[in-house]
Amino acid sequence: MAVQSTVAVATNLAQLRAALDPWRKAGATIALVPTMGALHAGHLALVRQAAASADKVVVSIFVNPAQFAPHEDFGRYPRALETDSAKLESTGAVQLIYAPDARDMYPEGFATKVSLDGPASGLETAFRSHFFAGVATVVTKLFTQCRPDIAVFGAKDYQQLLVVKRLSRDLDLGVDVIGAPTVREADGLALSSRNAYLSGDQRKIAAHLNRVLLSVGERARTGIPVAQAEAEGAASLINAGFDRVDYVAIRDAETLAQLRAIERPARVLAAARIGSIRLIDNRPV
Ligand code: PAJ
Repeated sequence: MAVQSTVAVATNLAQLRAALDPWRKAGATIALVPTMGALHAGHLALVRQAAASADKVVVSIFVNPAQFAPHEDFGRYPRALETDSAKLESTGAVQLIYAPDARDMYPEGFATKVSLDGPASGLETAFRSHFFAGVATVVTKLFTQCRPDIAVFGAKDYQQLLVVKRLSRDLDLGVDVIGAPTVREADGLALSSRNAYLSGDQRKIAAHLNRVLLSVGERARTGIPVAQAEAEGAASLINAGFDRVDYVAIRDAETLAQLRAIERPARVLAAARIGSIRLIDNRPV
């Protein structure tokens, strides 16, 4: 049976503006929570944080083709608008879902991309070269379409959070970008829409990612060289059953610049693959 939700859905820009205009005229503050759908408790925590900081909450659901490389999982990325809207309704915190069509977001002849440096260089970019340009382009569009006062992003995607903060500041988008803590399963695995791809055995391996990040952070705090702590972490992931480690990296928590020693707030970030499933996570050091 189809799950019916009563949260209003705007499927194009005209509908979005028609819904937002009266709120803005009434002086309401607006929060945007951008997502690609397949919502889980991590997304719902962002929504609740948004509702605590603004009068109206808009959640965008858009599987953004521009941030997937041709070989990545755009085609099989889970899509579930009806169950997503039921989940959003259950929070009681959302006034509008914005679920635009890819042809409206990227009409024939679309030719503009946001180009990035700073926190976007390295880490994810070394393995997904299109990724942040695709994220930044769609986030810029969502921000200018919706013109929210604030937008909430998860620390789960830590590099993305820093890239979007910098984007909003550098392009004067006027959106206050707020970071929300990572929501985890009982065993520490960060919730992710991609966890749905994991088999039972793979799910057990996945739980090691968070544990390894915690132990790399501890090792680095004891004063062992950063490169050694990173290499130990990568080896532990392979021992735990990961097939490939893209990176385990300890970086400056604000700029993501490389560090020789832990003298400033730092973050340990990792990306690793189990079969074709790529997981990322991070922890403060
Ligand atoms: P998506 O992966 O759907 O994530 C949407 C938001 O939810 C992001 O800000 C992400 O960091 C946050 N999130 C995901 N898992 C989380 C968890 N376990 N705890 C807390 N927050 C979590 O990230 C994207 O979509 C896209 O790149 C997007 C920004 C929407 C641009 O297309």
